Amino acid sequence: MVPSLLAFHVFAILQISTAFRLPTVPAKATPVRAASSAAVSVSLGGVTYVNQGLAELGAPLQLKPGTWQALSNGSFTGTLVVQPDRGFNVISTIDYQARRHELDFVLTPYYDSADLTFAAAQKTFALTYKDTVLETSGLDPSAIRAAMSGAGTNPLADPQMPIAMSMREGLVANADGTYWTSDEYGPYIYLFSADGHLIQTIQPPQAILPFDSKGNLNFTANVDPATGRGAKPSQASQSPSSGNGVVPLPLSSSGKVEATSEIHFVSEGVFLCLARDGNGHGGSGDKIKYKHADLFSIANATDIHGTAFDSPSTPVAPKGKLSKTITPATYVSFVDYADATQLARFGLHNGALLIFIATQTTTPLLDAKWESLALAPVGDSSAPDDFFLFTASDNDFLSTQGVSLGVPYNAGEDVDNQFLVFRVTLPGASANVKKALGLC
Ligand SMILES: *[C@@H]1O[C@H](CO)[C@@H](O)[C@H](O)[C@H]1NC(C)=O
Ligand SMILES: *[C@@H]1O[C@H](CO)[C@@H](O)[C@H](O)[C@H]1NC(C)=O
Ligand SMILES: *[C@@H]1O[C@H](CO)[C@@H](O)[C@H](O)[C@H]1NC(C)=O
Repeated sequence: MVPSLLAFHVFAILQISTAFRLPTVPAKATPVRAASSAAVSVSLGGVTYVNQGLAELGAPLQLKPGTWQALSNGSFTGTLVVQPDRGFNVISTIDYQARRHELDFVLTPYYDSADLTFAAAQKTFALTYKDTVLETSGLDPSAIRAAMSGAGTNPLADPQMPIAMSMREGLVANADGTYWTSDEYGPYIYLFSADGHLIQTIQPPQAILPFDSKGNLNFTANVDPATGRGAKPSQASQSPSSGNGVVPLPLSSSGKVEATSEIHFVSEGVFLCLARDGNGHGGSGDKIKYKHADLFSIANATDIHGTAFDSPSTPVAPKGKLSKTITPATYVSFVDYADATQLARFGLHNGALLIFIATQTTTPLLDAKWESLALAPVGDSSAPDDFFLFTASDNDFLSTQGVSLGVPYNAGEDVDNQFLVFRVTLPGASANVKKALGLC
């Protein structure tokens, strides 16, 4: 994505149905206790990272600074800040007011290898709805706000921007109560006050902005722009880039990019990347082939910031072929969400529709649209590099009993938000994770 994004801990958006049906938490855990035998290690830049498996089943996004707490009985508590992205808008654009919710949670990690029922697994991550803050005014008929004088040099002057800003895709909670968030159609980064007022707007480099064929900025979602966000040529080649460099995303067997839904800062030059297909509950097919939190390093990658590649006329990968002058980031596979053994431990499954129908009340299918990552320290003095990796799915407001803009709707299916919590070993992440959570 945008260089500036990498300066923050960017979290994708968690979606909650308008009726506030809280996530039926799908859990899945890799035996943490059996870490030595079940753990999966990868090496990146000479550092070994370990996926110790699912520790919990739940659904968070950003952990609110100052709330993460280890209890003496082995459970953990805190407050999650989650952000629905756009409302129930399958037919057309709707007048949806962007918002964020707070949820209190009690996490009780499950480290045994025996399979839990789904109902028991849900108890390992108990959520309680707490609060909502509304941001922005909803749909603006003029669609675009004119640039303010000084934009580009004065951080408080807004550039030309999509006023609707409702397709929220990133969230970072600051210790002072302000929030960084991003939108999909700019794609810009915004700073909001604790009570939901816009303070600052950061516009990405020209190469990423949605320009039409005449060179006009146009944030419409109905038509792909000629260059920038979602433009076909760059999608096929680089999908999201890391801003300063280019990240080579995994490809499916048919050569499609497993697009990234979230990038999360780990340590200097190292990031977690949520890359996935569209299959799973609420998605296009049942059998999930790729749903991962992977790792990449930009240590040896070419820094393209401030070069000709900032311009839409010089794409990093014309026709899908990366420019020979660019060394991409080093990318390694890390946590597989759809690991059958781990899913079974938390009463979930991946797979065919028939199995799903037969067992849906007890073993739900893993959701399709995982969109967020967050880290918190385990606090185990014998494993100081161990963290809980929280991840949550977006349900697109799919509910048979939804209410949108005051009007009841039936989306034809119920897709609850799902939350998973893995235990992972991430050398070098401690200082940043603690700082982000206000623990030091
Ligand atoms: C970067 O290059 C150095 C020297 O070749 C190598 O030792 C290191 O592992 C590389 N790091 C990554 C993340 O690829
Ligand atoms: C620990 O205490 C909290 C708060 O009373 C409770 O919610 C949680 O279930 C307890 N955990 C265990 C493992 O008993
Ligand atoms: C943006 O593109 C859409 C779809 O092509 C078009 O209807 C709309 O008029 C354009 N808006 C502007 C401000 O150019």
